Amino acid sequence: MTDEIGTVISTLDGPSPSNADFVINNGKLHRGQFVEMDYSEGTLIALVNDVIKTNRYFERADSVKEFESNGSAMSEQFPTAEWEYLIAKTKPLGVFSKGFVKRVTFPPSPGTRVRLASKENLQKFLNFDEKGLLIGEVDHHNLPVKLSLSSLLKKHLAILALSGGGKSYLVSVILEELLDRPKENGRIATIVLDPHGEYGNFALPCKDPSKKDYSSKTKLVKAANIRIGVPKLSVGVISGIVPGLTAPQKRDLGRILSQLKTQMKEGLGPFDLNDLKDAVFRDEAIKENSKGPLLGWLMSLHDLHIFGKTDNPSIPDLIKPGQLTIIDMSDTINLKKKQVIVSYFAQRIFSDRRKKKIPPFLMVLEEAHQFVPERAKAETAISRSIIRTIAREGRKFGASLCLVSQRPVQLDTTALSQCNTHIILRITNPYDLKHIGESSEGLDSKSVDMITSLRVGEALTVGEATHFPLFFKVRERKSAESKHEISLEKAAFDFEQENEERDSETAELL
Ligand SMILES: Nc1ncnc2c1ncn2[C@@H]1O[C@H](COP(=O)(O)OP(=O)(O)OP(=O)(O)O)[C@@H](O)[C@H]1O
Ligand SMILES: [Mg+2]
Repeated sequence: MTDEIGTVISTLDGPSPSNADFVINNGKLHRGQFVEMDYSEGTLIALVNDVIKTNRYFERADSVKEFESNGSAMSEQFPTAEWEYLIAKTKPLGVFSKGFVKRVTFPPSPGTRVRLASKENLQKFLNFDEKGLLIGEVDHHNLPVKLSLSSLLKKHLAILALSGGGKSYLVSVILEELLDRPKENGRIATIVLDPHGEYGNFALPCKDPSKKDYSSKTKLVKAANIRIGVPKLSVGVISGIVPGLTAPQKRDLGRILSQLKTQMKEGLGPFDLNDLKDAVFRDEAIKENSKGPLLGWLMSLHDLHIFGKTDNPSIPDLIKPGQLTIIDMSDTINLKKKQVIVSYFAQRIFSDRRKKKIPPFLMVLEEAHQFVPERAKAETAISRSIIRTIAREGRKFGASLCLVSQRPVQLDTTALSQCNTHIILRITNPYDLKHIGESSEGLDSKSVDMITSLRVGEALTVGEATHFPLFFKVRERKSAESKHEISLEKAAFDFEQENEERDSETAELL
C-alpha cells in the first residue's frame, strides 16, 4: 500500500502494549500525528509522541573526533547519509474491532507495517461528530476537529493556558460555533461572565466585511447597569453572598423578607435594600446582639451599589436559545462585587433551568480562579459554592460550565475535577504543568512535555470530548478581534495622539 510509512522494530522495552517504535522508511512524520497498523484483534491506532534521528556513524564521540581530526567531515569520508534513520516512538491508544474501541493489552509484532491513520478511522476513534462544533484541525492530517456539543460541554469544559496563550480566542471560536448552530441540531443559550471586557466585540455591529457580524444574536450587559431585585432574593441567595450569617440571623432575615414580600403583594410595591434594613432595624423580635451584625452585613451589601427594587436585566430575557449574553464587568474593580454578580447570575440561571423556565445553557467563566479559588475563606470566595454545585449537578439539568483560567493551580480542585474535558494551550510554569499532569486524566508525561512547546493557537484536548489526548490547531475566528488585541505600540501612540489633539483644542480656545 502507498500510505505505508514504516515498520515496527524491536527495542529493549518494546513493542509492548504501551509503546511501539518503528523505523520510517517512506516519507516524513511529525510528533503528534496518528498511525495505524494491523493487529491480531483489529486495527491498532497509535500516537507518535517522538521522532528521533539516528546514525551509527555518529554514535561514539571519540571516533567522530578521531576521524574528523584531519580536518575533513565524516560525511566526506563515509557514506553516512545512507545510515541515517528516522525512528518514531509511539504510544498505542486503542484497537478498533468490529466498530468498537478496545484497550491495547497485547503488543503488536516487530515487523508489522505501519500506515498513516486514515481520516475515517481517526474521526471515529476521536469521537468526532459531523454536526458538532468545528474548533480546529488535526495538524498534518488535514482533518477538521468537530466535537459533539454533548461530549464537549455536557460534563463541563476547562480551558487552561498561560496569559496570552489563546484562551479567549478559543472561547470566541466556540461561541461562534454555538451562535451559528441551526435549530435542528439543538441550540443552547450562552452566558459569558467577562471580567475584562474581552468579548464586547460580539455585540458591536461589524464594519469589516471580512468578519462575521454576531451583534444581532448578542446582548451586552455592563456591570454598572446590573441591579439585583431585593424582592427576588431568598435567604439562601443572601447567605450565599454573605457567608458569615448565623442560623438565627438567617431565620430572622427569612421572616422579615417574607413579611416584606406579603406587604408588597398587598399593594405596597417592591422594596429595596434600604427598606429591608429599616425593617430589620424596627423589628423587635431580633435579639440585639444579632441585629447589629445583621445590619452591618446589609450595609456592606448596600456599599456594592448593586441592589434595587427589581432585577435588571431580567433573567428570562438573557437566556434564550442561540443567543449570547455577555456580562461585562470591566468597569468594576471591586472583586467582591464581581463575585456577587457571578454568584447571583449563576444561582438564578441554575435555579430557573432546574424549573425548566430557561433553555439548557453554557456559562463561560473567564478568570475562573478569581471566582472559584482553591484556597480562600468562604467570605472571599462568594461565588465558589454555587459554581461547585453547577459543576457537580449541572449535567443532569443541561447546565454546563466552561472554566477559563491562566492559573490552574489556584483553581478549585472540586470544580476542575468535574470538568470532563480539558483544553490546554501553551503553559510553561512548572507548577501549573505538574498540576495539569495530575488533574487531567489520560495525560502521560510525554504529552505534558509537549504542552510547553505548543505555540499560540495550538491546543491539546484531554478527556470526554475526544476520548484520547489530541493535539490540534485552533481554527481562525470569524468574528472581529477584541479591542484588547491592539499592540502596546498602537495603544501608546493613540494615547499621545489623543492628548495632542486635546491640547491643541484647548490652545485654540484660549
Ligand atoms: N488560534 C489563534 N490564531 C491566531 N492568533 C491567535 C490564536 N489564539 C490566540 N491568538 C492571538 O494571541 C493573542 C492572545 O490571545 P488571547 O487573548 O486569546 O489569550 P488569553 O489566553 O485569553 O490571554 P489572557 O489570559 O491574558 O486573557 C491575541 O493577540 C490573539 O489574537
Ligand atoms: Mg483572555
